Amino acid sequence: MAGKILVLGATGNVGRPLVKALVARGEAVKAASRRGEPVEGAEGVVFDIVDPMTFPTAFEGVDRAFVLLPTGYTEAKALLLPLIEAAATRGVKVVFQSVFGVDADDSIPYRQVEIALEKSGVPYVILRPNWFTDNFLTFWKAGIDAGGVIALPAADGKSSFIDVRDIADSAVAALTSDRFDGRAFNLTGPEALGYAEAAALIASGIGRPVTYVAIDDDAFVDNLMGAGVPEVYARFLASIFHPVREGWAAAVTDDVPALTGHPARGVAAWVTENASALKG
Ligand SMILES: NC(=O)c1ccc[n+]([C@@H]2O[C@H](COP(=O)([O-])OP(=O)(O)OC[C@H]3O[C@@H](n4cnc5c(N)ncnc54)[C@H](OP(=O)(O)O)[C@@H]3O)[C@@H](O)[C@H]2O)c1
Repeated sequence: MAGKILVLGATGNVGRPLVKALVARGEAVKAASRRGEPVEGAEGVVFDIVDPMTFPTAFEGVDRAFVLLPTGYTEAKALLLPLIEAAATRGVKVVFQSVFGVDADDSIPYRQVEIALEKSGVPYVILRPNWFTDNFLTFWKAGIDAGGVIALPAADGKSSFIDVRDIADSAVAALTSDRFDGRAFNLTGPEALGYAEAAALIASGIGRPVTYVAIDDDAFVDNLMGAGVPEVYARFLASIFHPVREGWAAAVTDDVPALTGHPARGVAAWVTENASALKG
């Protein structure tokens, strides 16, 4: 494989560690973001998923691409299908970051994107990560800062939270080898925890109380809208807690070790490593 690797969302949670790991392996990487800035030593390229005019330059010289839907967008099919087509037209291999559990039903939009990729004729790998451990530093950080509260409509459902570095490591394996082509991987952490257990780990890591409060969808949406999240995205986030309440996010797989050759990182170790960021 001699071409460059296009990494979408290169300034984001998964994209940044992915670019860093690929550059460290000596791969030529095009780091895509709306500003097109260089990332972790990789050349930057301007890319906007809502503007297909930016696709040709982004794909120039590329033979593999890491594709995701940036956070904040809900129109998976409308935005991702043109991108799959752009890759297929150019014969570019696609490693697609999908979402854990979407294979439950072929009518789920993300699953329909996966199916389009499976039929596209280009080599592909599908990665379906579960809820990110790193959400405690992004989405749920404001509540931890404000009152030591993580308030979610998760009831007592458990999730096998995954460290974004394990998603990045899995993507490195998928992008730099053809051994995994044509397959889908359900990426999880090593164990399933409830939010009360995660809150207790964070409390002990930062040395102050953090509690989980189970709330209903409407209260969750109100909280997010109060923090400036548009209602449509707040409702989307609320809806994806249904599988958590049902216990479907608790499954643990061996797919991270199968791809990366190392065990998946757990929440307790993540809290220790990120204690100062969680305190700040
Ligand atoms: N969080 C979770 O628990 C979880 C679990 C499973 C799956 N997922 C999926 O993971 C995806 C998000 O991954 P992530 O957290 O790594 O992403 P992220 O950190 O939200 O990254 C967004 C990236 O996309 C770029 N971006 C934003 N708007 C863009 C646009 N219009 N066109 C092109 N690039 C744009 C951003 O860069 P600029 O702003 O610089 O352009 C940034 O690099 C979502 O599809 C989500 O459904 C998330």
